[in-house]
Amino acid sequence: SRTVGRREDGVVTVGGIDVTRLAEEFGTPAYFLDEDDFRARCRAWRDAFGTEADVFYAGKAFLSRAVVRWLHEEGLNLDVCSAGELATALDAGMPAERIALHGNNKSADEITRAVEAGVGRIVLDSFQEIVRVAHIAERLGKRQRVQIRVTVGVEAHTHEFIATAHEDQKFGLALAGGQAAEAVRRALKLDGLELIGIHSHIGSQIFDTSGFEVAAHRVVGLLKEIRDEHGVELPEIDLGGGLGIAYTSDDDPREPHEIARALNDIVTRECAAAGLAVPRLSVEPGRAIVGPTAFTLYEVGTIKELPGLRTYVSVDGGMSDNIRTALYDAEYSVALVSRTSTAEPMLSRVVGKHCESGDIVVRDAFLPADVAPGDLLAVPATGAYCRSMASNYNHALRPPVVAVKDGAARVIVRRETEEDLFRLDVG
Ligand code: LLP
Repeated sequence: SRTVGRREDGVVTVGGIDVTRLAEEFGTPAYFLDEDDFRARCRAWRDAFGTEADVFYAGKAFLSRAVVRWLHEEGLNLDVCSAGELATALDAGMPAERIALHGNNKSADEITRAVEAGVGRIVLDSFQEIVRVAHIAERLGKRQRVQIRVTVGVEAHTHEFIATAHEDQKFGLALAGGQAAEAVRRALKLDGLELIGIHSHIGSQIFDTSGFEVAAHRVVGLLKEIRDEHGVELPEIDLGGGLGIAYTSDDDPREPHEIARALNDIVTRECAAAGLAVPRLSVEPGRAIVGPTAFTLYEVGTIKELPGLRTYVSVDGGMSDNIRTALYDAEYSVALVSRTSTAEPMLSRVVGKHCESGDIVVRDAFLPADVAPGDLLAVPATGAYCRSMASNYNHALRPPVVAVKDGAARVIVRRETEEDLFRLDVG
């Protein structure tokens, strides 16, 4: 977050507010999101791609009604991948034509709701879906704008790729072997569909633009094949999301303008070589927009020193508010934010309160040796895929998301209560 500071007594401030005050007012654990930072990142993406391209925020990273309104105001579009995300987007006033629907197994209900609402595009992910969407659109007397998601065969050879573009996985239709070309053939024949473009998403937490460049090269290759076979030039390509962020100081993320320049250059060059008009480009960043804008605030409960090993520092949340360490071995940093300490750094593992040993928030951290119950710890860069993947494991109550702006804090997603749990438990 861009508005973090530290008072002389060591208390960290966010947008001018002390974290100790935030903890008192909103409790812990809680996510605090810097609204100005979120909006600034939206604008950075918009400005980097300019008016010739569209930026779709990937709602799976974190979505709420307030977020939808911010996106709308900052001129971004929205990628949703379920009926729940679609309903949130529409309810908060995102114009349907600025919404894209994704998913490898969209239900008939999800497709129907999206077509009825008039979403700007549905990204088709299988042969069955081509027919399903066409039938639903025809029945509703509509012609649905669609893209076909292809897998371009980028090898997942570096650890940065949480890969989705190699062939042996569930998403998309492979370019290799001709499945993607066959999907285009089928889609072009159906009255209910207006095929507007090709979509590729190569993976997540990527630092290197070369994977995107290979994808762009191969997608343009398909556009050329389509032109040669069918005499149509599809007007759009979407190159997905996946730009990495800094979770620890070892990570070195690219800026939106670097990725925009790389993508625009390669698409322009490849299209010129193929004799194609340059299609309208779109991208779908999720993590790169929301990830760095939030941190999680925890309170320390118990501390266990294991001589010769490390010290386990337990906080009042854990894998229910951040599953990423357990699931992907993700790395985070952590800081003592409620006071200063001159104590020696001590090898620590920050763990949660859940009933399993894999319930780790930060695997390796150096915290001051005098860390004590009641101290507040902050884990930065938890804006993406933390609240959105939070669970009620052990009947944990999912934490609130609090937006901080202009020295004021307001809840945008409230903390769950036991009544919320009981409401679902109807047995
Ligand atoms: N577009 C499509 C089609 C996607 O599948 C995704 C992410 C995105 C865009 C946004 O990717 P981003 O820019 O946020 O990397 N839960 C994992 C990440 C899974 C991402 C799935 N798809 C995590 O916590 O790292």
